[in-house]
Amino acid sequence: MSAIIIDGSAIAKQVLAEQKILAGRLTAGGHTPGLAVLLVGDDPASAIYVRSKERACREAGVLTFDTRLSADTSENELLKRVDAMNSDPRVHGILVQLPLPRHINAVKVLQRIAVEKDVDGFNWRNLGALLDGHPALAPCTPSGSMILLERAGVPIAGRHAVVLGRSSIVGKPAALMLLERNATVTVCHSRTADLAAMTRQADILLSAIGRPRMITADMIKPGAAVIDIGINRLPDGKLCGDVDFDVVRQKAGWITPVPGGVGPMTVAMVIANVISAAGSTAT
Ligand code: GUN
Repeated sequence: MSAIIIDGSAIAKQVLAEQKILAGRLTAGGHTPGLAVLLVGDDPASAIYVRSKERACREAGVLTFDTRLSADTSENELLKRVDAMNSDPRVHGILVQLPLPRHINAVKVLQRIAVEKDVDGFNWRNLGALLDGHPALAPCTPSGSMILLERAGVPIAGRHAVVLGRSSIVGKPAALMLLERNATVTVCHSRTADLAAMTRQADILLSAIGRPRMITADMIKPGAAVIDIGINRLPDGKLCGDVDFDVVRQKAGWITPVPGGVGPMTVAMVIANVISAAGSTAT
């Protein structure tokens, strides 16, 4: 058996085309959606992420307001910049790219973003709304993963979903979203006693652990849907996921590649959140 490869780049393109229509309607009504991106320091991976988000904005008809700050920017200065974007009516979404330099308290900065402009969905109120089944702005990587499952036609209700990773921005929200769609959910983490015993039970396996090719074929239930959220850089500079793609694809039912799987969907969901935020203020 060879898995269906879920083409995240193609599905992200569809989502962006749908969002472009919505952005066009908002623009016609005088409410062009706008995203403010704040990037502190010169982490090369962050610079690449930010560029891809800004490119997607341009493609979808979303304005971008770009702030690049040096690595020695103080926390107070960054908070002031966030405040300025919070009160700028042209800005509907604010994204502070992570990681921030160590001298800046990331939690404090992220929680300063106005809840209605929090297009990363990291604000505690947005996370709380997700917990209670009423998501407004939801974290983009897990919501993009859910769209990949849905558009690939993977059954979710009644299935056993195993999530690897318990971060507040990927693992925990992904578990909530799967639960909301009536999956039975297990969350595994670095202290899980027998990881392979858990993953072998998964009809749907979502991996967000950040360990290159750690998920091998013997850890997969035949026919499972495998969503690889890891983006890891190998010593030769190439990117790979948490899943050993070449062997797991022989056994899984569906699988996402890295690159070209969840990554482009994360970007598409940022745009969807900006347009949703702009739509809420326009009405
Ligand atoms: N850095 C890596 N992933 C993300 C993300 O989803 N949002 C932000 N703001 N920064 C990130």
